[in-house]
Amino acid sequence: MDYAQLKPFPKDFFWGASTSAYQVEGGWDADGKGLSVIDVNTKAPPGTTDFKVAADHYHRYAEDVALFAELGLKAYRFSIAWTRIIPDGDGEVNPAGVAFYHALIDELLARGIEPIVTMYHFDLPAALDAKGGWGSRETVDAFVRYARVLFEEYGPKVTYWLTINEQNMMILHGDALGTTGKAGESGKRAVYQQNHHMFLAQARAMALCHELLPEAKIGPAPNIVSVYPESCAPADVIAADDWDAVRNLLYLDLAAHGHYHPLAWAYLAERGWEPEIADGDLDVLASGKPDFIAFNYYSTQTVAASRGDASDLQVRGSDQQIVRGEIGLYRGAKNPYLPTNAFGWEIDPVGLRTTLRRLWDRYRLPLIITENGIGAFDTLEDGAVHDDYRIDYYRRHIEQIHLAVSDGVDVFGYCPWAAIDLISTHQGCSKRYGFIYVNREEFDLLDLARIKKDSFGWYQKVIAGNGVDLA
Ligand code: BG6
Repeated sequence: MDYAQLKPFPKDFFWGASTSAYQVEGGWDADGKGLSVIDVNTKAPPGTTDFKVAADHYHRYAEDVALFAELGLKAYRFSIAWTRIIPDGDGEVNPAGVAFYHALIDELLARGIEPIVTMYHFDLPAALDAKGGWGSRETVDAFVRYARVLFEEYGPKVTYWLTINEQNMMILHGDALGTTGKAGESGKRAVYQQNHHMFLAQARAMALCHELLPEAKIGPAPNIVSVYPESCAPADVIAADDWDAVRNLLYLDLAAHGHYHPLAWAYLAERGWEPEIADGDLDVLASGKPDFIAFNYYSTQTVAASRGDASDLQVRGSDQQIVRGEIGLYRGAKNPYLPTNAFGWEIDPVGLRTTLRRLWDRYRLPLIITENGIGAFDTLEDGAVHDDYRIDYYRRHIEQIHLAVSDGVDVFGYCPWAAIDLISTHQGCSKRYGFIYVNREEFDLLDLARIKKDSFGWYQKVIAGNGVDLA
């Protein structure tokens, strides 16, 4: 629908930006931090850095937050590294790690920036992984204990909590993300048992949050894409619905309604991958009620009916944004209407409006976009980064959010990925996302200086005008 006059963005809209601990902080073993699966499992692809130093935000957070304030951020979405708080996942609490996030949160609050805290962003403590990771119910208990520490420590300062970042991508692409861990080697059945345990952990954390912090708000943070059928052939539409159920609705229904989506369950049962559900699990799942849905959006996916043979599978390897296909379920299709970025990810701003509308329609929970952005090989020339492609990307996505607001969708924030350059999950630091350039290369740390990109000045104006002026 077109509008003669758009509704304004809400006046307290969270114009924000995002990062995650292991991708931005560095200080991988500083001040008693334990090792995570990222520290021990991830084999950096040839030619790309590891996560040991990253953007060195651990040591430069004050300078970074000052820049975020200059940018005008109303909210900053970051994650807490479980291994800084409880180095082995379920043992002693590490006071230095706790102090670091107090200092970061205090710095944000002092500058009027709302902290939005992700409790777990891919970096499971390695010690828990060695004991079975998410395959073990003990990890559920460990997560709930960790959640309690976070709520008790930071609850008086933090209102907005996100449970688990992109649980769906850890399940579907754990190999690429470095999160699969030991248990992931034993096949899909084990992976979907891990998934079930993560759902239990999430539900218990949401219930605990409401019990301890009645004013707080908590929600899940999956990666959600609208799925398009390649054509109007009914079989393509069925394939799109099926993949939507397995990729998106499985995670959203569990979080929002506390039960398995029937079509997703039928998929698991058909393959013999349905998890064991212990006595009491269904009650636990039903007890976790989110206050909002956060989701990460990079693109849409287009699929066609499976041909029932290996040609359904794409050979491009694993990546959280590229459709792979699955025999008997769907095959990936190219959307001829969409351009791609330098890494083959399709760019679909209108798909963000579609996704917002669908989520609002189905769940009627307030929505916040906690990631959206374009990875690019930015270049520093004469002290400047002219990332007009990033400005164009954001402009076109914000236009669509504005339309969704006019459509009646309750969306209360937008946190692009990323506030500052950081390390990509599996493609090094040359794949840059930030509004702020970090002067380092894959293996040469240079001076790690912070340099404002052109997109910084542009987003600053957008925020100052509450999304009205996107020029
Ligand atoms: C999301 C993750 O999947 O996409 C982030 O939550 C990640 O951690 C982002 O960095 C971009 O992906 P990538 O692989 O380019 O870093």
